[in-house]
Amino acid sequence: MEIITSIEQIREISENIRKNGQSLAMVPTMGCLHEGHKSLIDKARKENDKLIVSIFVNPMQFGPDEDYDNYPRDLEADSKLCQNAGVDYIFHPKADEMYPNSFSTYVEPCKQMTDILCGISRPGHFRGVCTVLAKFFSIIRPNRAYFGQKDAQQLAIVKRMVKDLNLNVEITGCPIIREEDGLAKSSRNLYLNEDERKAASILRKSILLGLKEIDAGQKSSQKVLDTIKSNIEKEKLAKIDYVEILDFDTFERVDDIQGNILIALAVYIGKTRLIDNIVI
Ligand code: PAJ
Repeated sequence: MEIITSIEQIREISENIRKNGQSLAMVPTMGCLHEGHKSLIDKARKENDKLIVSIFVNPMQFGPDEDYDNYPRDLEADSKLCQNAGVDYIFHPKADEMYPNSFSTYVEPCKQMTDILCGISRPGHFRGVCTVLAKFFSIIRPNRAYFGQKDAQQLAIVKRMVKDLNLNVEITGCPIIREEDGLAKSSRNLYLNEDERKAASILRKSILLGLKEIDAGQKSSQKVLDTIKSNIEKEKLAKIDYVEILDFDTFERVDDIQGNILIALAVYIGKTRLIDNIVI
């Protein structure tokens, strides 16, 4: 496995892979890799001849008051995980390689999909995500790219960008990988102290409570939202950012629970903002 930092070099490597008639996959990440990332890597490894994992903490997708500077970085551990998982190349560019001073073109994602959920509390976040991914897809031109359902809104927005811009890459979504108590694995879980870590299981527990109500026949979104919210509010360390029930295809709020439904939430546990969701 090789670690490549220059755009020119990874472009040449990718081009040669394509010329050899081999399929090329990409797993975009911000590093600090865990079992969640590894599940994407394993699937991509199985389904393709060559695999590039990008590790790039993308400054463009962080707001001014967010954790860009403190975001955990551990290239050594990440390299080991990738090496053991059979990754062919890590692409690990510096910020000024991706965004030189002259950089001034951005990808503005579908407004209907960004004016809700994380798009409200993180203005500009998905514009940063789409811009960096459009660059990666243009540099590497992978046949397939793999994303986690954990970031359900990101996955849906990326699929829409690929469709709208006719990018020649197949986007594959992968299930959420969880800790034993149900907490979705996340690089940001490292921020939690012992009490906060225990409290964080409230996200999944509350979603499951809502699901139970739906399974018992509840059709009113408002009733299910109330159940989920009041359960989260019982946890002293938790502060709700949002809890929403949406039509997963249109990203519109729904009154009645029917069809393809996304229940998504973001909750602060202490200062750490965590997200989770379920598609039913
Ligand atoms: P990052 O948060 O590092 O996540 C990289 C990929 O891993 C995303 O597709 C995410 O959904 C997936 N992932 C994270 N935790 C997961 C879990 N518990 N189960 C399954 N998949 C999980 O998402 C980003 O980076 C960035 O926005 C990026 C797409 C790289 C653009 O900068």
